[in-house]
Amino acid sequence: MNNSILPTYNRSDLFFERGQGSWLETKEGDLYLDFGAGIAVNSLGHCHPKLVETLKNQAEKIWHTSNLHNIMQQNELADFLVENTFAEKVFFTNSGAESVECAIKMARKHFYDKGLEKKNRIITLNGSFHGRTLGTIAAAGEEKLTKGFGPDLQGFDQVTSNNITEILDCIDDQTAAILMEPIQGEGGIKSLETSYLREVRAVCDENDILLIFDEVQCGVGRSGRLFAHEKYDVLPDIMAIAKGLGGGFPIGACLATNKAASGMTKGTHGSTFGGNPLACAVARSVLDEITSPGFLEEVQRKSKIFMQELSRILDQYSDIFEELRGEGLMLGLKCKVDNMELIETGYDQKLLLIPAADNVIRILPPLNITDQEIREGINRIETIATSFQEKIK
Ligand SMILES: Cc1ncc(COP(=O)(O)O)c(C=O)c1O
Repeated sequence: MNNSILPTYNRSDLFFERGQGSWLETKEGDLYLDFGAGIAVNSLGHCHPKLVETLKNQAEKIWHTSNLHNIMQQNELADFLVENTFAEKVFFTNSGAESVECAIKMARKHFYDKGLEKKNRIITLNGSFHGRTLGTIAAAGEEKLTKGFGPDLQGFDQVTSNNITEILDCIDDQTAAILMEPIQGEGGIKSLETSYLREVRAVCDENDILLIFDEVQCGVGRSGRLFAHEKYDVLPDIMAIAKGLGGGFPIGACLATNKAASGMTKGTHGSTFGGNPLACAVARSVLDEITSPGFLEEVQRKSKIFMQELSRILDQYSDIFEELRGEGLMLGLKCKVDNMELIETGYDQKLLLIPAADNVIRILPPLNITDQEIREGINRIETIATSFQEKIK
């Protein structure tokens, strides 16, 4: 613990000095297997040689110019995202919360410019997480996020996931958008049902409502597809991304169709650092790698190994774990014992896991983790489970 740091995090005692691939090394030289990837950020592991090379090369050319001028790396990254997604416009940010903020502002401005000033409310899902700004905590609406930070920002209505009736009951002529994570991350690795997402899309189309996906955690290859919504064959009008996009370099983006983005004209939004040349160069390298032939197929194959092994562990240790959730390399084990105690026991086994709500432990390894590392991590999870089983006997 450092007294100079605002104590908002529940930190472990670990300090890491180096990282390579799926491994992190402490000052003392202890190696930890990273099944958390900085909470779904180090999509290509630590210090991937191509990303290091890109960053070094870019650092020697130009770091920052401001968005008052054209930024070549930003243009190239935006073009890439437009070519590979539903989007026609991109705005770059530095984080997930900023990307969601941009999405909220964009949806409201779209209807404002159409003369529909009162069409400004956004429907969100219970158990969601969209960041820690005043706007994004109000969007999620959870008391654990908003308590003490009032007055709350207005304009959000929460409904239960996978329940189309609640959405239909909630919609009125003030509803501008519906915002959801196709796979809830912080909420405990909960996927939305395909039929539900398709119904939501249809409801949006019928009622002139914009559909916003928050793929900050589940996007950029994490689900085994470039973006999680591809599985459902449902396209959003706006999408927020971040985390894995920079592979560890801070960058986010808000993607949109021309129609949804129509209100975001000169002077309506901005960011000093958003779209910085260093960040954009690295993100472009991340995307080149993730979209290279066979990469996402490998993520899906590795996901199957995890699923098989974790299902076996679920059966074998049924008094420790109760459910396996997730897709691709965004997996969750709902626990019967305290998830934080399991994660702390994981530190003894030199395995890093991530907690989530609903008493879940998240497994979010680098997308290029090797088969051998998967098996090593699974062995460590079994050791953790065995030690717990002995404890509760
Ligand atoms: C789905 C989702 N949206 C938004 C955020 C906020 O991202 P950031 O912490 O980069 O602001 C997160 C972070 O965990 C997230 O998982």
